[in-house]
Amino acid sequence: MKKRINKSERKFQYAGRSQQSGQKPKDLNLHARSQWQWIWTKMGLLSLCILSVSIPLLLHLFSDSIDLSRPSDIGLNHTINMYLTPGEAVRVGVWHTVPEHRWKEAQGKDLDWYENALGDGSPIFIYLHGNGGNRSAPHRIGIANVLSAVGYHVLVLDYRGFGDSTGEPTEAGLCTDVLYLYHWVKARSGNSPVCVWGHSLGSGVASTTAVKLLEQGKQFDGIILEGAFLNARMETNKLTEHPFTWFYWKFPYIQYFLFNPLKSKDLNLPTDENLQKIQTPLMILHAEDDHLVPFASAQEIYRIAKKAQNSDEHVKLVRFDGALEYLHNGLYKDPGLPNIIREFMQSLMT
Ligand SMILES: *[C@@H]1O[C@H](CO)[C@@H](O)[C@H](O)[C@H]1NC(C)=O
Ligand SMILES: *[C@@H]1O[C@H](CO)[C@@H](O)[C@H](O)[C@H]1NC(C)=O
Repeated sequence: MKKRINKSERKFQYAGRSQQSGQKPKDLNLHARSQWQWIWTKMGLLSLCILSVSIPLLLHLFSDSIDLSRPSDIGLNHTINMYLTPGEAVRVGVWHTVPEHRWKEAQGKDLDWYENALGDGSPIFIYLHGNGGNRSAPHRIGIANVLSAVGYHVLVLDYRGFGDSTGEPTEAGLCTDVLYLYHWVKARSGNSPVCVWGHSLGSGVASTTAVKLLEQGKQFDGIILEGAFLNARMETNKLTEHPFTWFYWKFPYIQYFLFNPLKSKDLNLPTDENLQKIQTPLMILHAEDDHLVPFASAQEIYRIAKKAQNSDEHVKLVRFDGALEYLHNGLYKDPGLPNIIREFMQSLMT
Protein backbone atom coordinates (compact mmCIF):
# COMPACT_ATOMS: atom_id res chain seq x y z
CA MET A 1 0.00 0.00 0.00
CA LYS A 2 1.24 3.46 -0.88
CA LYS A 3 1.87 5.67 2.06
CA ARG A 4 0.59 9.23 1.84
CA ILE A 5 3.48 11.61 2.28
CA ASN A 6 3.15 15.20 3.24
CA LYS A 7 5.34 18.04 2.03
CA SER A 8 7.94 17.97 4.76
CA GLU A 9 8.30 14.24 4.53
CA ARG A 10 8.84 14.54 0.83
CA LYS A 11 11.58 17.14 1.33
CA PHE A 12 13.22 14.92 3.84
CA GLN A 13 13.20 11.95 1.51
CA TYR A 14 14.58 14.11 -1.24
CA ALA A 15 17.48 15.34 0.90
CA GLY A 16 18.17 11.83 2.09
CA ARG A 17 18.37 10.51 -1.41
CA SER A 18 20.69 13.24 -2.61
CA GLN A 19 23.06 12.57 0.25
CA GLN A 20 23.12 8.89 -0.50
CA SER A 21 23.75 9.13 -4.20
CA GLY A 22 26.07 12.12 -3.97
CA GLN A 23 25.02 13.34 -7.45
CA LYS A 24 24.87 16.96 -6.43
CA PRO A 25 24.95 18.78 -9.80
CA LYS A 26 22.03 16.80 -11.20
CA ASP A 27 19.97 17.33 -8.08
CA LEU A 28 20.70 21.02 -8.09
CA ASN A 29 19.53 21.06 -11.65
CA LEU A 30 16.37 19.27 -10.69
CA HIS A 31 15.86 21.63 -7.82
CA ALA A 32 16.34 24.67 -10.06
CA ARG A 33 13.90 23.26 -12.59
CA SER A 34 11.20 22.68 -10.01
CA GLN A 35 11.76 26.20 -8.76
CA TRP A 36 11.27 27.53 -12.28
CA GLN A 37 8.16 25.45 -12.68
CA TRP A 38 6.80 26.95 -9.51
CA ILE A 39 7.60 30.48 -10.72
CA TRP A 40 5.89 29.80 -14.05
CA THR A 41 2.87 28.40 -12.27
CA LYS A 42 2.71 31.48 -10.09
CA MET A 43 3.04 33.78 -13.10
CA GLY A 44 0.37 31.80 -14.92
CA LEU A 45 -2.02 32.12 -12.01
CA LEU A 46 -1.26 35.80 -11.65
CA SER A 47 -1.92 36.55 -15.32
CA LEU A 48 -5.17 34.58 -15.11
CA CYS A 49 -6.20 36.79 -12.22
CA ILE A 50 -5.25 39.94 -14.12
CA LEU A 51 -7.12 38.79 -17.22
CA SER A 52 -10.26 37.91 -15.32
CA VAL A 53 -10.32 41.40 -13.81
CA SER A 54 -9.32 43.36 -16.88
CA ILE A 55 -11.48 41.74 -19.58
CA PRO A 56 -14.83 42.56 -17.96
CA LEU A 57 -13.45 45.97 -17.01
CA LEU A 58 -12.34 46.76 -20.57
CA LEU A 59 -15.64 45.53 -21.97
CA HIS A 60 -17.33 47.83 -19.53
CA LEU A 61 -15.19 50.87 -20.36
CA PHE A 62 -15.34 50.53 -24.11
CA SER A 63 -18.97 49.61 -24.51
CA ASP A 64 -21.26 52.50 -25.35
CA SER A 65 -23.62 52.98 -22.50
CA ILE A 66 -27.21 52.77 -23.65
CA ASP A 67 -29.47 55.69 -22.72
CA LEU A 68 -32.62 53.97 -21.49
CA SER A 69 -34.71 57.10 -22.03
CA ARG A 70 -34.03 56.90 -25.78
CA PRO A 71 -34.85 53.43 -27.13
CA SER A 72 -34.72 54.83 -30.68
CA ASP A 73 -30.92 55.17 -30.26
CA ILE A 74 -30.65 51.42 -30.56
CA GLY A 75 -33.02 51.08 -33.50
CA LEU A 76 -36.25 50.51 -31.55
CA ASN A 77 -38.29 52.77 -33.80
CA HIS A 78 -41.76 51.99 -32.44
CA THR A 79 -40.91 51.97 -28.75
CA ILE A 80 -41.33 54.77 -26.25
CA ASN A 81 -39.79 55.18 -22.81
CA MET A 82 -41.91 56.26 -19.86
CA TYR A 83 -41.73 56.42 -16.08
CA LEU A 84 -44.37 55.28 -13.62
CA THR A 85 -44.44 55.91 -9.89
CA PRO A 86 -45.71 52.80 -8.11
CA GLY A 87 -44.73 54.10 -4.70
CA GLU A 88 -43.49 57.10 -2.82
CA ALA A 89 -40.04 58.00 -4.09
CA VAL A 90 -40.11 55.04 -6.48
CA ARG A 91 -39.95 55.71 -10.18
CA VAL A 92 -39.71 52.79 -12.60
CA GLY A 93 -38.69 52.93 -16.24
CA VAL A 94 -40.84 51.14 -18.82
CA TRP A 95 -40.50 50.62 -22.57
CA HIS A 96 -43.72 50.32 -24.52
CA THR A 97 -43.39 48.76 -27.97
CA VAL A 98 -46.45 48.84 -30.24
CA PRO A 99 -47.28 46.07 -32.74
CA GLU A 100 -44.75 46.11 -35.55
CA HIS A 101 -47.33 46.76 -38.27
CA ARG A 102 -47.83 50.18 -36.71
CA TRP A 103 -44.16 51.18 -36.82
CA LYS A 104 -44.53 53.83 -39.54
CA GLU A 105 -47.45 55.45 -37.81
CA ALA A 106 -45.46 55.50 -34.57
CA GLN A 107 -42.69 57.73 -35.91
CA GLY A 108 -42.34 60.91 -33.89
CA LYS A 109 -45.35 60.16 -31.70
CA ASP A 110 -45.58 61.14 -28.03
CA LEU A 111 -46.66 59.34 -24.88
CA ASP A 112 -50.33 60.18 -25.45
CA TRP A 113 -50.34 58.44 -28.80
CA TYR A 114 -48.73 55.33 -27.31
CA GLU A 115 -51.19 55.32 -24.43
CA ASN A 116 -54.13 55.51 -26.81
CA ALA A 117 -52.59 52.81 -28.98
CA LEU A 118 -52.89 50.38 -26.06
CA GLY A 119 -56.63 50.34 -26.70
CA ASP A 120 -56.32 49.25 -30.35
CA GLY A 121 -57.55 45.73 -29.64
CA SER A 122 -54.17 44.00 -29.96
CA PRO A 123 -53.12 41.63 -27.16
CA ILE A 124 -50.74 43.12 -24.60
CA PHE A 125 -47.78 41.52 -22.90
CA ILE A 126 -46.09 42.67 -19.72
CA TYR A 127 -42.55 41.32 -19.87
CA LEU A 128 -40.76 40.65 -16.57
CA HIS A 129 -37.04 40.25 -16.94
CA GLY A 130 -34.52 38.25 -14.95
CA ASN A 131 -31.97 39.56 -12.52
CA GLY A 132 -28.97 41.60 -13.58
CA GLY A 133 -28.72 44.22 -16.30
CA ASN A 134 -31.70 46.22 -17.48
CA ARG A 135 -34.46 46.34 -20.09
CA SER A 136 -31.99 46.98 -22.92
CA ALA A 137 -30.29 43.57 -22.72
CA PRO A 138 -30.30 41.97 -26.19
CA HIS A 139 -32.26 38.84 -25.23
CA ARG A 140 -34.99 41.00 -23.66
CA ILE A 141 -35.23 43.20 -26.74
CA GLY A 142 -35.25 39.93 -28.68
CA ILE A 143 -38.47 38.72 -27.02
CA ALA A 144 -40.10 42.17 -27.26
CA ASN A 145 -39.34 42.20 -30.99
CA VAL A 146 -40.87 38.76 -31.49
CA LEU A 147 -44.05 39.75 -29.63
CA SER A 148 -44.28 43.01 -31.56
CA ALA A 149 -43.75 41.23 -34.88
CA VAL A 150 -46.60 38.84 -34.05
CA GLY A 151 -48.80 41.93 -33.60
CA TYR A 152 -48.84 42.58 -29.85
CA HIS A 153 -48.00 45.42 -27.52
CA VAL A 154 -45.13 44.79 -25.11
CA LEU A 155 -44.32 46.64 -21.91
CA VAL A 156 -40.90 45.88 -20.47
CA LEU A 157 -40.21 47.35 -17.07
CA ASP A 158 -37.14 47.68 -14.94
CA TYR A 159 -38.24 46.88 -11.43
CA ARG A 160 -37.24 49.28 -8.67
CA GLY A 161 -33.48 49.20 -8.16
CA PHE A 162 -32.82 47.97 -11.71
CA GLY A 163 -31.60 50.05 -14.66
CA ASP A 164 -32.68 53.67 -14.27
CA SER A 165 -35.47 52.83 -11.83
CA THR A 166 -35.08 54.25 -8.36
CA GLY A 167 -35.78 52.54 -5.05
CA GLU A 168 -34.59 49.44 -3.30
CA PRO A 169 -35.30 46.07 -4.87
CA THR A 170 -37.21 43.75 -2.57
CA GLU A 171 -39.48 40.86 -3.40
CA ALA A 172 -42.58 42.78 -2.26
CA GLY A 173 -41.40 45.91 -4.07
CA LEU A 174 -40.94 44.09 -7.36
CA CYS A 175 -44.47 42.70 -7.16
CA THR A 176 -45.85 46.14 -6.30
CA ASP A 177 -44.24 47.56 -9.45
CA VAL A 178 -45.75 44.84 -11.61
CA LEU A 179 -49.23 45.20 -10.08
CA TYR A 180 -49.03 48.94 -10.64
CA LEU A 181 -48.08 48.46 -14.29
CA TYR A 182 -50.87 45.89 -14.71
CA HIS A 183 -53.51 48.31 -13.43
CA TRP A 184 -52.04 51.13 -15.50
CA VAL A 185 -52.35 48.94 -18.60
CA LYS A 186 -55.85 47.70 -17.74
CA ALA A 187 -57.06 51.30 -17.43
CA ARG A 188 -56.11 51.79 -21.10
CA SER A 189 -56.42 48.40 -22.77
CA GLY A 190 -60.18 48.11 -23.32
CA ASN A 191 -61.08 44.48 -23.95
CA SER A 192 -57.64 43.38 -25.13
CA PRO A 193 -56.15 40.36 -23.41
CA VAL A 194 -53.36 41.29 -20.99
CA CYS A 195 -50.77 38.55 -20.49
CA VAL A 196 -47.55 38.30 -18.56
CA TRP A 197 -44.23 36.86 -19.74
CA GLY A 198 -41.70 36.08 -17.02
CA HIS A 199 -38.14 35.08 -17.77
CA SER A 200 -35.80 33.53 -15.20
CA LEU A 201 -36.19 35.53 -11.97
CA GLY A 202 -39.11 37.28 -13.71
CA SER A 203 -40.97 33.96 -13.84
CA GLY A 204 -41.11 33.99 -10.04
CA VAL A 205 -42.26 37.61 -10.04
CA ALA A 206 -44.94 36.69 -12.60
CA SER A 207 -46.38 33.79 -10.61
CA THR A 208 -46.22 35.70 -7.32
CA THR A 209 -47.94 38.72 -8.88
CA ALA A 210 -50.56 36.44 -10.42
CA VAL A 211 -51.47 35.19 -6.93
CA LYS A 212 -51.64 38.75 -5.60
CA LEU A 213 -53.97 39.66 -8.49
CA LEU A 214 -56.19 36.70 -7.62
CA GLU A 215 -56.49 38.10 -4.12
CA GLN A 216 -57.87 41.26 -5.76
CA GLY A 217 -60.33 39.15 -7.77
CA LYS A 218 -58.45 39.70 -11.03
CA GLN A 219 -56.17 37.67 -13.23
CA PHE A 220 -53.84 37.78 -16.21
CA ASP A 221 -55.41 36.38 -19.37
CA GLY A 222 -52.39 34.19 -19.98
CA ILE A 223 -49.01 33.44 -18.43
CA ILE A 224 -45.82 32.48 -20.25
CA LEU A 225 -42.86 31.34 -18.16
CA GLU A 226 -39.46 31.10 -19.83
CA GLY A 227 -36.46 29.47 -18.14
CA ALA A 228 -38.52 29.31 -14.95
CA PHE A 229 -37.36 27.97 -11.60
CA LEU A 230 -39.44 26.27 -8.93
CA ASN A 231 -38.66 28.84 -6.27
CA ALA A 232 -35.99 31.47 -5.79
CA ARG A 233 -34.71 30.15 -2.51
CA MET A 234 -33.48 26.97 -4.14
CA GLU A 235 -32.01 28.60 -7.21
CA THR A 236 -30.20 31.47 -5.53
CA ASN A 237 -28.67 29.19 -2.95
CA LYS A 238 -27.31 27.12 -5.78
CA LEU A 239 -25.88 30.13 -7.57
CA THR A 240 -24.28 31.84 -4.62
CA GLU A 241 -22.46 28.66 -3.74
CA HIS A 242 -20.35 29.17 -6.82
CA PRO A 243 -17.00 30.51 -5.58
CA PHE A 244 -16.55 33.16 -8.25
CA THR A 245 -20.01 34.66 -8.43
CA TRP A 246 -19.32 37.35 -5.84
CA PHE A 247 -16.47 38.61 -7.92
CA TYR A 248 -18.47 39.35 -11.06
CA TRP A 249 -21.30 41.15 -9.36
CA LYS A 250 -19.94 44.49 -10.38
CA PHE A 251 -19.45 43.73 -14.05
CA PRO A 252 -21.90 43.83 -16.92
CA TYR A 253 -22.29 40.95 -19.42
CA ILE A 254 -21.63 38.42 -16.76
CA GLN A 255 -24.15 39.86 -14.36
CA TYR A 256 -27.07 38.87 -16.59
CA PHE A 257 -26.50 35.39 -15.34
CA LEU A 258 -26.46 36.27 -11.70
CA PHE A 259 -28.99 37.21 -9.14
CA ASN A 260 -27.56 40.64 -8.79
CA PRO A 261 -29.28 43.60 -7.10
CA LEU A 262 -31.55 41.45 -5.01
CA LYS A 263 -30.22 39.92 -1.88
CA SER A 264 -30.75 36.26 -2.49
CA LYS A 265 -31.39 35.43 1.12
CA ASP A 266 -34.52 37.57 1.10
CA LEU A 267 -35.98 35.94 -1.99
CA ASN A 268 -38.77 33.46 -2.02
CA LEU A 269 -40.86 33.79 -5.21
CA PRO A 270 -42.42 30.33 -4.80
CA THR A 271 -43.65 29.48 -8.30
CA ASP A 272 -44.23 25.88 -7.21
CA GLU A 273 -46.69 26.97 -4.50
CA ASN A 274 -48.18 29.79 -6.58
CA LEU A 275 -49.12 27.54 -9.45
CA GLN A 276 -51.25 25.41 -7.17
CA LYS A 277 -53.56 28.41 -6.79
CA ILE A 278 -53.68 29.57 -10.39
CA GLN A 279 -56.19 28.59 -13.07
CA THR A 280 -54.83 30.89 -15.79
CA PRO A 281 -53.77 29.35 -19.12
CA LEU A 282 -50.05 28.75 -18.87
CA MET A 283 -47.26 28.04 -21.33
CA ILE A 284 -43.81 26.98 -20.12
CA LEU A 285 -40.86 27.51 -22.48
CA HIS A 286 -37.53 25.91 -21.64
CA ALA A 287 -34.35 24.97 -23.45
CA GLU A 288 -33.05 21.48 -22.74
CA ASP A 289 -29.55 22.87 -22.46
CA ASP A 290 -30.47 25.69 -20.04
CA HIS A 291 -27.30 25.98 -17.96
CA LEU A 292 -28.77 28.01 -15.11
CA VAL A 293 -32.17 26.46 -14.52
CA PRO A 294 -32.24 22.77 -15.41
CA PHE A 295 -34.91 21.50 -17.77
CA ALA A 296 -36.22 19.27 -14.98
CA SER A 297 -37.47 22.45 -13.30
CA ALA A 298 -39.81 23.09 -16.26
CA GLN A 299 -41.05 19.51 -16.12
CA GLU A 300 -41.84 19.84 -12.44
CA ILE A 301 -43.62 23.17 -12.97
CA TYR A 302 -45.61 21.56 -15.77
CA ARG A 303 -46.57 18.64 -13.53
CA ILE A 304 -47.69 20.92 -10.69
CA ALA A 305 -49.69 23.26 -12.94
CA LYS A 306 -51.37 20.45 -14.86
CA LYS A 307 -52.45 18.81 -11.64
CA ALA A 308 -53.74 22.12 -10.25
CA GLN A 309 -55.65 23.03 -13.40
CA ASN A 310 -56.65 19.44 -14.14
CA SER A 311 -56.35 20.22 -17.82
CA ASP A 312 -54.12 19.30 -20.75
CA GLU A 313 -55.27 22.25 -22.82
CA HIS A 314 -54.62 25.05 -20.37
CA VAL A 315 -51.08 24.05 -19.49
CA LYS A 316 -48.41 23.57 -22.12
CA LEU A 317 -44.73 22.77 -22.00
CA VAL A 318 -42.60 23.62 -25.03
CA ARG A 319 -39.15 22.07 -25.02
CA PHE A 320 -36.34 23.49 -27.17
CA ASP A 321 -33.81 20.98 -28.40
CA GLY A 322 -30.45 21.22 -26.65
CA ALA A 323 -28.69 21.01 -30.03
CA LEU A 324 -30.01 24.52 -30.78
CA GLU A 325 -27.81 25.85 -27.97
CA TYR A 326 -30.28 28.45 -26.71
CA LEU A 327 -29.14 27.97 -23.12
CA HIS A 328 -30.90 30.23 -20.60
CA ASN A 329 -31.44 33.37 -22.67
CA GLY A 330 -31.59 32.42 -26.33
CA LEU A 331 -35.17 31.29 -27.01
CA TYR A 332 -35.96 34.54 -28.84
CA LYS A 333 -33.79 33.23 -31.69
CA ASP A 334 -36.08 30.31 -32.43
CA PRO A 335 -37.74 30.71 -35.84
CA GLY A 336 -40.71 28.70 -34.57
CA LEU A 337 -41.36 30.98 -31.58
CA PRO A 338 -43.80 33.40 -33.29
CA ASN A 339 -46.09 30.49 -34.18
CA ILE A 340 -45.83 28.96 -30.72
CA ILE A 341 -46.95 32.30 -29.24
CA ARG A 342 -49.71 32.79 -31.81
CA GLU A 343 -51.16 29.35 -31.10
CA PHE A 344 -51.10 29.98 -27.36
CA MET A 345 -52.92 33.30 -27.81
CA GLN A 346 -55.48 31.67 -30.09
CA SER A 347 -56.12 29.04 -27.43
CA LEU A 348 -56.99 31.86 -25.00
CA MET A 349 -59.70 33.19 -27.28
CA THR A 350 -61.49 29.87 -27.69
C1 LIG B 1 -28.36 49.32 -19.16
O1 LIG B 1 -27.66 48.29 -19.80
C2 LIG B 1 -26.82 48.71 -20.86
C3 LIG B 1 -26.23 47.49 -21.49
O2 LIG B 1 -27.24 46.68 -22.04
C4 LIG B 1 -25.77 49.68 -20.35
O3 LIG B 1 -25.02 50.17 -21.45
C5 LIG B 1 -26.43 50.82 -19.63
O4 LIG B 1 -25.45 51.63 -19.04
C6 LIG B 1 -27.39 50.32 -18.55
N1 LIG B 1 -28.08 51.47 -17.99
C7 LIG B 1 -28.41 51.56 -16.72
C8 LIG B 1 -28.99 52.86 -16.27
O5 LIG B 1 -28.26 50.64 -15.94
C1 LIG C 1 -38.38 50.28 -38.04
O1 LIG C 1 -38.60 48.98 -37.49
C2 LIG C 1 -39.22 48.07 -38.35
C3 LIG C 1 -39.49 46.81 -37.57
O2 LIG C 1 -38.37 46.39 -36.85
C4 LIG C 1 -38.36 47.82 -39.58
O3 LIG C 1 -39.00 46.93 -40.47
C5 LIG C 1 -38.12 49.16 -40.28
O4 LIG C 1 -37.24 49.00 -41.36
C6 LIG C 1 -37.53 50.18 -39.29
N1 LIG C 1 -37.46 51.48 -39.95
C7 LIG C 1 -36.44 52.30 -39.87
C8 LIG C 1 -36.55 53.58 -40.61
O5 LIG C 1 -35.45 52.02 -39.23
